[in-house]
Amino acid sequence: MTDVKPVEALSQAEARQELDRLARQIAAANRAYHTEDAPEITDADYDALRRRNAAIEARFPDLKRADSPTGQVGAPLAEGFAKVQHDVRMLSLENAFELTDVAEFDDRVRKYLGLGPESPLLYTAEPKIDGLSLSLRYEGGLLVRAATRGDGETGENVTENARTIADIPKVLSGAPDLLPDLLEVRGEVYMAHADFAALNARQAAAGDKSFANPRNAAAGSLRQLDPAITAARPLRFFAYAWGALSEPLADTQSGAIARLASLGFPTNPLTQTCDGPDALLDQYRRIEAQRATLGYDIDGVVYKVDDLALQRRLGFRSSTPRWAIAHKFPAELAWTRTEAIDIQVGRTGALSPVARLTPVTVGGVVVANATLHNEDYIAGRDSRGDPIRGGRDIRVGDWVQVFRAGDVIPKIADVDLSRRPQDASPYAFPETCPRCGSDAIREAGDSVRRCTGGLICPAQAVERLKHFVSRAAFDIEGLGAKQVEAFYEDGWVRTPADIFTLRDRFGSGPQQLRNRDGWGEKSAENLFAAIDDRRRIPLNRLIFALGMRHVGEVSASLLASHYHSWTAFEAAMTAARVGEGPDWAELTAIDGVGDVLATSVVMTFQQERERQAIDALVAHLQVLDVVPRAPVDSAVAGKTVVFTGTLERMTRAEAKARAEALGAKVAGSVSAKTDYLVAGPGAGSKAAKAADLGVTVIGEDAWLALIGTA
Ligand code: IVH
Repeated sequence: MTDVKPVEALSQAEARQELDRLARQIAAANRAYHTEDAPEITDADYDALRRRNAAIEARFPDLKRADSPTGQVGAPLAEGFAKVQHDVRMLSLENAFELTDVAEFDDRVRKYLGLGPESPLLYTAEPKIDGLSLSLRYEGGLLVRAATRGDGETGENVTENARTIADIPKVLSGAPDLLPDLLEVRGEVYMAHADFAALNARQAAAGDKSFANPRNAAAGSLRQLDPAITAARPLRFFAYAWGALSEPLADTQSGAIARLASLGFPTNPLTQTCDGPDALLDQYRRIEAQRATLGYDIDGVVYKVDDLALQRRLGFRSSTPRWAIAHKFPAELAWTRTEAIDIQVGRTGALSPVARLTPVTVGGVVVANATLHNEDYIAGRDSRGDPIRGGRDIRVGDWVQVFRAGDVIPKIADVDLSRRPQDASPYAFPETCPRCGSDAIREAGDSVRRCTGGLICPAQAVERLKHFVSRAAFDIEGLGAKQVEAFYEDGWVRTPADIFTLRDRFGSGPQQLRNRDGWGEKSAENLFAAIDDRRRIPLNRLIFALGMRHVGEVSASLLASHYHSWTAFEAAMTAARVGEGPDWAELTAIDGVGDVLATSVVMTFQQERERQAIDALVAHLQVLDVVPRAPVDSAVAGKTVVFTGTLERMTRAEAKARAEALGAKVAGSVSAKTDYLVAGPGAGSKAAKAADLGVTVIGEDAWLALIGTA
């Protein structure tokens, strides 16, 4: 955010270029936030991008792009849920950041309505909940549909998931004859701080990825294809708006909220009517003062014109109402000193730098560490070598500005060069592993430096053991990250094979597990039994458990289904050489196995130490073959199918799952190997390519006839 040219100083050409860049950056940020539930930039940076975009467009209206981010709400839809067309669009809110923006909002509203400064004008002020919006449709008092916002026009149908949220009434309260025939209630799904912390602890204990903040946890939990998962996640809901209605709820915003409460919806207790900008700001300050103790994330205060007749007159701009504004809280920032830079070593040897800070309170939370990502980041460069923070590097002794967005790991926003100690020298990123002394090397194109010590590195060894026992791997009950660390520390378990000799070594005799702190006769016996249970292990789990770089759960399964047995897999990997020969060709011909993954696996089997560890482990196991599924008897078994365009009778995800269940292979792009292109309305380049290649193109109905479900 530093060293940017003022908008007034931009030439036409620079403005065009910047609008182009901003459109791409904002689209990428939207995707990360909405579709992947994994934001890459802070809300404050995101808002700054949008403001800059709007400012440039205001100065150069002719340069406004057709795909300008200004009129857009949200992001494209994720695949997997059926689509829901909103009867009334789900809109976004204009943001205010400064106190003066609030007075200007009031001025604009009055001007639009032709009200003088003395005319009374009421507003409501209420917290802006940091979650995700949801539209709930009730017909005859019954919940019939729940949909996410999506792009504002079309959302995802998450009805079954919404039904699992206790805060959301399945049936409206009140006398049946007084209930509206149709009511669409809108509000925010969120997760409370305590529930978020407990969820992340459960995720970590199970070896699953933890969520960056409560909002992502809420979004990730609501948008689960399996409602049972949503049900297990502690989601909550506040109602604050509505969409389609069969009859008005009230004459005022505050009255409508009260009506929603009487119908059984949770509404926010900090909602207040205010008689003008001063009262709004008072309420803003009151809410801000309570922010840290509310127990859930809010990111500002929303002001709305109270009179619904006036709201109707004010109406909407392209994507925001004229009658409301979101007054955002400033980013949570604080200055503190960097006391040290430590390096943590991960499972694959990645060296991750962490700044140890003089503890400082940021938004009510004490922060003592901040991630520094990698050596380029410390040096003030991004992965392409372009300057970040205006090229200012970070040194031990520096005063740095830290920020938190939601509950994300704190990051460093800036460095104050004027307070840099004279003797501070640029941070020399280690070229050897701080834990084992092996060379730490950085491969071309990788921003991360890695320890080459493999299993001789204690840090890697412990992280690999934690991975080995994690849920998708060996999943040994009673043996989690904590136990593995303690056993490693004491030399009881150094490699996965050692787990399987624990009973022999510590089941009886002078040193016994049952006598260790935190263990007893029963828990020790349970652990030995749980370990024995896992001596029989499916091939895909074993491959995943080995923790080879680039081999995740999915690729482990691909390898297992291709080679079927450990004997075949092991023989092929032993024989394979990177980049040459029939074994390499076979490995890289597996759909979904690229050169990078293949190299990682082949190299692992060639490294003597790794190989010894694997052989020692497998000696204790009975590896269960992954049996190829019996060929399915269907007209499309063995055929390669590509779907394109809009499917009208099922979602893309459903179509794919059905096809695969019938033995077809579903590909993403058309090639000479494609047997059928199933093209719905709006099919574009794929249909053209199929025609060129002579691939059979059929419509959705013909496809359904082919698979026998027309
Ligand atoms: S009113 C037509 N009230 O903020 C406007 N929105 O940035 C309807 N949000 O999409 C929205 N708390 O997801 C409103 N008290 C509140 C809110 C709120 C959170 C969210 C909502 C909206 C987004 C806009």
